[in-house]
Amino acid sequence: MSQPTTILSGIQPTGKLHFGRYFGAVENWKRLQEEYDCLYMVVNYHAMTMPFQAKKLAENSWELCFNLMACGIKPENIFIQSLVPEHTELNWILNCFTSYGQLTRMTQFKDKSQQNEEKGADGFISAGLFTYPALQAADILIYKAGLVPVGKDQEQHLELTRNIAQRFNNFAGKEYFPIPEALYTKVPKVMSTADPTRKMSASLGDKHNIDVFADEARIRKQVRSAVTDTGGADAGAMSPGVSNLFQLLEASGKTEAHASLMADYEAGALKYADLKEAVADGLVAISGGIRERLAELKQDRKAVKNQIKQSSYEIRKRAQETTKEVKEICGLMNVRF
Ligand code: TRP
Repeated sequence: MSQPTTILSGIQPTGKLHFGRYFGAVENWKRLQEEYDCLYMVVNYHAMTMPFQAKKLAENSWELCFNLMACGIKPENIFIQSLVPEHTELNWILNCFTSYGQLTRMTQFKDKSQQNEEKGADGFISAGLFTYPALQAADILIYKAGLVPVGKDQEQHLELTRNIAQRFNNFAGKEYFPIPEALYTKVPKVMSTADPTRKMSASLGDKHNIDVFADEARIRKQVRSAVTDTGGADAGAMSPGVSNLFQLLEASGKTEAHASLMADYEAGALKYADLKEAVADGLVAISGGIRERLAELKQDRKAVKNQIKQSSYEIRKRAQETTKEVKEICGLMNVRF
């Protein structure tokens, strides 16, 4: 095997970049760039599967590109899904290799269609939401990616992608698509600081997530107000809130502080205020550098946007190559470029 493994992942241009997404995805993406051929995509086509506004979608997509770059993702590895329209073309073809029954069992579809029913979407559930995982399969297979860094919540989608690849390979009579593997991040789920029994997420509201781009005072305030004792923990077990704070401390690279505070905890002498201060220090240190880089990037927005358009253009060539081959395999006529 001479070719480096290709890594592909996608991130939704919705909500802001909070520490849950940072530690759960982006920081890991950054590290993987050292070793692999990495492609990171802003999935604006996927973002249309839930109620959306055109202006917001455009703004959020660019904003996320800026944010990813500020976090240290190389611009040549970033692209916007709609700038590679072949994703939707391959999506159609793969729809025809996707089991309808398997789509009906996707828990994300069940969760999100329920959300749409509950929240002002007039109960509208689009076919796009239903076939979303087949688009995700196209995203991955179009680059013949071997590894897909995702959270555990994407396990079912990855399994579906593998099934689609296998079914296609059977049809082709050869191992055309490599069967991709999920790469789960080491940092387990970061929980909400306001309700540590739930995952940190933008949709729960501002109290529940800490924005990577927030200023120092705000980050400190949010960490200081983090829930520690929820009363739900078994006697003798660490409460979810305290465990989440330790996790954030470890994720922010404060290894020594983590060890000494953990020793305090084990000796029954932990002061929550000390733990919170250490966590705040860790998060502020990460956020400071990122905010500086963002400010620099925003001095010339046009140049940054052009960079992303250029990288999307280059990455598109790879997608076109696969789409052309897949169409040949399927007996579909190809447009000559
Ligand atoms: N479904 C993913 C999520 O909700 C986003 C995504 C879209 C993705 N396409 C992808 C992730 C391809 C990995 C690979 O987080």
